[in-house]
Amino acid sequence: MAKEIINVTVTARKANAIEVKADVLAVGVFSDDKTNKLCKAIDKKVGGAIEKLKKLGDFKAGVKETAIIYGDGKIAAKRVLLVGLGKKKELKAGDVRNAAAMSVSKAVGLKAKTIVIAISEAVGKKIDGETAGQVMAEGAYFGSYRYDEFVGKGDDDRLGSLKASIVDGDAAKARQISKGVKAGVIIGQVQSFARTIANRPGNVINPKGLAEIAKKVARGTPGLSCTVFDDKQLKQKKMGGILAVGAGSSNKPRMIVLKYTSKKKTSKKIGLVGKAITFDSGGISIKPSAGMQDMKFDKSGGVGVLGAMKAIAELKPAVNVIGIIPSAENMPSGAACRPGDIITSYSGKTIEVQNTDAEGRLILCDGLHYAVQQKCDCIVDMATLTGACMVALGKYMAGLMSNDDELVKKLQKASEQSGEKVWHLPCGDEYSKEIKSKIADLKNIGSRWGGASTAGSFLREFVGDTKWAHIDMAGVDMFDSASEFGSVGSTGFGVRLLTNFVLNEAKK
Ligand code: BES
Ligand code: MN
Ligand code: ZN
Repeated sequence: MAKEIINVTVTARKANAIEVKADVLAVGVFSDDKTNKLCKAIDKKVGGAIEKLKKLGDFKAGVKETAIIYGDGKIAAKRVLLVGLGKKKELKAGDVRNAAAMSVSKAVGLKAKTIVIAISEAVGKKIDGETAGQVMAEGAYFGSYRYDEFVGKGDDDRLGSLKASIVDGDAAKARQISKGVKAGVIIGQVQSFARTIANRPGNVINPKGLAEIAKKVARGTPGLSCTVFDDKQLKQKKMGGILAVGAGSSNKPRMIVLKYTSKKKTSKKIGLVGKAITFDSGGISIKPSAGMQDMKFDKSGGVGVLGAMKAIAELKPAVNVIGIIPSAENMPSGAACRPGDIITSYSGKTIEVQNTDAEGRLILCDGLHYAVQQKCDCIVDMATLTGACMVALGKYMAGLMSNDDELVKKLQKASEQSGEKVWHLPCGDEYSKEIKSKIADLKNIGSRWGGASTAGSFLREFVGDTKWAHIDMAGVDMFDSASEFGSVGSTGFGVRLLTNFVLNEAKK
């Protein structure tokens, strides 16, 4: 049976790191900083152990580098985890987030029950306290996350609970940090929740199940409402794209609509649209069996939107946001959509389906048209849309396509803040020509080349003059194996990016 995920609490306060009892004390260290007061103070107490490590070259304090020394009863913590921050001049907020994630991930590995995170002291004024607090909290959740819902009872890799305290010796700075930690806790918790939903396999979550989760999220979040269109309503509304994709499965499709309405006076409305294919077999254009299991992650865009909507509703920015999550299961069967079928999308545009595995764009075009009807000022969609995007950018960055350069800049800024990387790719113009059909308005695939851009261009056809951007997150949706920062499986990509984007929009 499914079990609860690791229970992590993250708090912040003013304290002298040396005096706080903990299983692990994580201390940030620059590779080129000889004035680290906290390090020096610890070193004095533990008889120069840190200096020895450095002299032997065992710890150079580069990013991703860690080393452990033992407290031996001379400081309050049992262990000191030295966490490399790299060169002082090159430090970015993302490095602080990663350092916190790495520390907490190590603490989970050590089966620690308590960790004190003292990273901000080394950072000094390089990053403001509020930002530092937010990213450390986000990192703490990210690093602690393990997907262990279905791990057997006897497995001792599970960890009951972990208490993480972020401390800084300076009272004013600690207050700033606490402020940031509040937002970081909300975003971090939501991202862990999103990772769990995305990690669940197709037999555990189907479109109806995802809709139920979305409703439950809305019920538990003041300011957030949720409406779901079932397959009957989809037929009434003539949402032909999502219906065609869902036709082959006995698990019928759903269109999930979440609304956050700000209590503050604002007429601005942002639309977030996320692809949620709960399993993508390819349909009649079936995928090869190797790796097909990873297509349970094909709902990651929609799950990212669901997470962002929850975080946004809790952070209460002065902007209205509508989250639209078309969800279907792409399966082959006697009732499935065939290659060659011509379908009529919700917008009225007809589409020749040349490949049933290019299904994401078929559900998104209905979602995008719905967002346009809702008169959104701008629309951002997010989807695990093309293998081509992963070929182009690898597993490090998502593709970003848009019809508006200003929106690109805004998303690049949110990307910088969130550490969820994007790279601008083209769409429109010559790419659009590739998706013209001879027998319908559009066809759902282009040539062999530039697949991310032809997919983006297809979506662009459905937004008219509305400012729109598309994030192709195929490749960054999941880790193939555990890393220093995080565990295998869903990354929860997009929760931080979309939330930051919306918060920035509200500040204008
Ligand atoms: N969900 C896949 C894209 C994908 C591939 C995501 C690998 C993550 C990892 C999408 O529905 C798909 O199958 N796209 C096809 C499009 C093609 C038929 C034009 C692809 O990329 O092969
Ligand atoms: Mn597909
Ligand atoms: Zn897909």
